[in-house]
Amino acid sequence: MMTNFISHAHVEAAVTAVRSHTNYQPTIGLVLGSGLNALADAIEDADIIPYEPIPHWPASTVPGHSGRLVIGKLEGKPVLAQQGRAHFYEGHPMNQIVLPVRVMHKMGVRTLIVTNAAGGINADFSPGDLMLIKDHLNMLGIAGNNPLRGPNDDAFGPRFPNMIDAYDPKLRQLAQETAVANGFSLQEGVYAFVAGPSFETPAELRFLRTVGADAVGMSTVPSVIVARHAGMRVLGISTITNMAVPDPLPGTELSHEEVLETGKQIIPRLTTLLRGILQQL
Ligand code: HPA
Repeated sequence: MMTNFISHAHVEAAVTAVRSHTNYQPTIGLVLGSGLNALADAIEDADIIPYEPIPHWPASTVPGHSGRLVIGKLEGKPVLAQQGRAHFYEGHPMNQIVLPVRVMHKMGVRTLIVTNAAGGINADFSPGDLMLIKDHLNMLGIAGNNPLRGPNDDAFGPRFPNMIDAYDPKLRQLAQETAVANGFSLQEGVYAFVAGPSFETPAELRFLRTVGADAVGMSTVPSVIVARHAGMRVLGISTITNMAVPDPLPGTELSHEEVLETGKQIIPRLTTLLRGILQQL
């Protein structure tokens, strides 16, 4: 378990381990969220690297999140997919959760596509929708736990990075056009990052709705902040696996199984979307 802040030595050690298992030079990173692991099956001629032997790599312990890197070609593009991610609620320090993004950057990844499962707060959403993330609410960061807390290494990025247009407007437009070309549409909204693992109370959901959240989830934002710190372009896509509303129908109770099941049903559409986007990158 790492107690201190991530240094270049930590990142280098992890990069060396990954490079010893692959000759690919990935330029596009893909983070696959809850229930979305099967997306990595589309990657061709893949080198598959389990997380365990990679030094300092945070392990994922959650059902539905297998822990391995899948590096290969998707639509002819060299991609590195993180099949399963570590979450803050598993007990990892915030700065360790984001090591994979630092490793991706060091390996040459300049475009990061992050996916997740999220609860829909916006009443216009339905389970099964895909939502482009246009902005985020970092509830933990606002409360003092930002992944960039600690000494800043200028070689990683600036002390005070900008978070305006953190979710690249051109990539969002490309995603919208790709969806339309394939006969479906995308929701667009603000993703609120909470720690979990308990789902939100009705009062918390009323609060999140009031402050402008369209969806809520337990991941993604720390990685996006570190990717932007490093100057990577980011595209974020939430799969709305359930509605997260303060007044659910009587008898409805959210479970992780429901999140995984809806995630599975969205995979074909998400795969079509990602393939279409990759073709144009
Ligand atoms: N809340 C938080 N995280 C989630 C949810 C939710 O309703 N659904 C999927 N991830």
